[in-house]
Amino acid sequence: MPEKRIILDQIDNPNSASIDFYMSLGGYTALKKAMGNMSRDQILGEVKASNLRGRGGAGFPAGIKWGFIKPDAPGPKYLVCNADEGEPGTFKDREILQKKPHIMIEGMIIAAYTMGLDAGYIYIRGEFYEPLLAVDKAIAEAYQKGFLGKDILGSGFSFDLYTYRGAGAYICGEESALINSIEGRRGMPRLKPPFPAQNGVYGRPTTVNNVETFAAVPSIINNGGKWYADLGTPKSGGTKLFSISGHVQRPGVYEIPMGTPWKDFFYDICGGVKDGKQLKAVIPGGSSTPVLKPEELEGMTMDYESIASKGSMLGSGAVIILDETTDMVKLLNRILHFYAHESCGQCTPCREGSDWFYDIIHRIYHGKGREGDLDLFENLGKNIGPNTICAFGDAFVTPTLSFIRKFREEFLAYIKRSDSAAG
Ligand SMILES: Cc1cc2nc3c(=O)[nH]c(=O)nc-3n(C[C@H](O)[C@H](O)[C@H](O)COP(=O)(O)O)c2cc1C
Repeated sequence: MPEKRIILDQIDNPNSASIDFYMSLGGYTALKKAMGNMSRDQILGEVKASNLRGRGGAGFPAGIKWGFIKPDAPGPKYLVCNADEGEPGTFKDREILQKKPHIMIEGMIIAAYTMGLDAGYIYIRGEFYEPLLAVDKAIAEAYQKGFLGKDILGSGFSFDLYTYRGAGAYICGEESALINSIEGRRGMPRLKPPFPAQNGVYGRPTTVNNVETFAAVPSIINNGGKWYADLGTPKSGGTKLFSISGHVQRPGVYEIPMGTPWKDFFYDICGGVKDGKQLKAVIPGGSSTPVLKPEELEGMTMDYESIASKGSMLGSGAVIILDETTDMVKLLNRILHFYAHESCGQCTPCREGSDWFYDIIHRIYHGKGREGDLDLFENLGKNIGPNTICAFGDAFVTPTLSFIRKFREEFLAYIKRSDSAAG
């Protein structure tokens, strides 16, 4: 199955970020169609029919989320675009932000119109300076054409859009920490419920979606929800962007139909393992998802259900390729250093647990491993994930356990060689 470029269509054109170029491709016709010819219920119906699932990691159906908001309820309501893109291995949103920001902005305006929202924030990670400039320029262009601001296209609907820069914290990608950060508070997750749909930005109803989720919306309105759904599998509609990195022949961002066989994606599109080496393992959805061994990839297709059936997750669509030379102990040491550094510290099991996990792997990697260290990971892991406010605990426990279970011999070899095991 080949690539199918909808969001990425013409993205490599040097003018792809400009509004004139975007409109020459049919950009903003979906907005005109939605506002001119469709009721809010009709738009919502198409988004539900499209089977579009949130592209930020959790895969929650966008149409259902949009349906939580009551457009006619009094008082301000907000839209948030999650452009934090913090998950290691993920670099697909940056591509949209920098090279095709209007497709996301058009999707946001349609979303705001459908849910009757007053203002929107694009929460963009601090390190994304060039994407920020591109998005700010695109917002100014959209105001100039009358797609943002008061009485958009004479519809009586008004919507303002702002960028908001994060300061580079991974946890600020978690939607409630992100909301706190927009409000000027420390970026720490909130207890849910209440969910953002009831109590979001400034305590008001808020919808949060990922960059790619919004970018899928214009094509759904132009071609219909069924058209989009039929591109993918019965449960995972449409196309999906994957960023593939590591020991791969052709790293990059690819858009493929959901349900594309793994083999077609990896070997035909991405060229397989770099330099003719053997494949050792694949992390399919970003560093927080369990690692898979080559035999587990047999028959896998690139969609939420198939990857889950193999014991991992599609996550943020960040595929990391590991060849035969990869030292799994060294890699886990690097991953856990990241999570220990990024825990926001609010929940004790996560704050202490992420440091413990890093301490253990650090000593194994540096020749101080102890007998029983692998059991200690298992034991500690049981008490972290279920006892935290957000999914950060699971984000480092689940991949760790997959590493030590699937590559146990490698970890044991390090421990056996170590000073402390030798007594
Ligand atoms: C620790 C953590 C980090 C996250 N980081 C991101 C992120 O960088 N970008 C993103 O879109 N979603 C991220 N999410 C998921 C968001 O909380 C939320 O589910 C998403 O923005 C909803 O949009 P969607 O339904 O379109 O996927 C993260 C979640 C967790 C628990």
